Amino acid sequence: MNEPSPIVIANIKANQNWQQTANWVEKVDSEGKFFKGTVIFCASSPFLKAVQEKVQSLNSFIKIGTQDISQFEQGAFTGEVAASQIEGICEFTIIGHSERRENFKEDDDILSKKVQHAKKVNIEVIYCVQDRTTPIPAGVSIVAYEPVFAIGTAKSDTPQNAFDVAFEIKKRGNYVVIYGGSVTPDNVHSFLKKGAVDGVLVGTKSLDPTSFIEILKNASY
Ligand code: PGA
Repeated sequence: MNEPSPIVIANIKANQNWQQTANWVEKVDSEGKFFKGTVIFCASSPFLKAVQEKVQSLNSFIKIGTQDISQFEQGAFTGEVAASQIEGICEFTIIGHSERRENFKEDDDILSKKVQHAKKVNIEVIYCVQDRTTPIPAGVSIVAYEPVFAIGTAKSDTPQNAFDVAFEIKKRGNYVVIYGGSVTPDNVHSFLKKGAVDGVLVGTKSLDPTSFIEILKNASY
């Protein structure tokens, strides 16, 4: 991971139609140019190719991620998106989000297969862990500490606890560590600490490009 920090990731989840997605890219591109870190936009899979075309046509700084990839290699897996299908479109993928662990029963074995498929096509993995002991498969470079109680609840963790957990995770490997869980324009600054927490993963407050740009304005160490 050589991109400049802080890293600010938008996780759009199953939200936005194409018009809203296109508008998001245009607005963040034109109003977020001042940002010196890295912006990764994790759009929904059906729009990834079109997002790439838009990003290229704007010559934008926005990097493209996907929210998940299949545990399977290409084949008869209806509804799945294989890593090899998005090779060259996405630079990043989220893997192991607690919503996938819970709703789709993804366990450590499935998640490590996903990481391997991503790595095979040079997609960098943003791996979500729910606490300091969550296993991390080989091949992961960015770890997102995302305590379940803080996701979509407007009840973020404390910055001090996020720093402590990040410190523990960094003892386990050479990881860039970011924090996710109810990050807002008002609290983003408190979660960033050089050498501890190098970025944020934003769900709810990333949907509206205006609030996402407010997060970028306050996302400094
Ligand atoms: P939230 O989501 O910002 O809505 O809490 C974060 C996440 O799920 O990554």
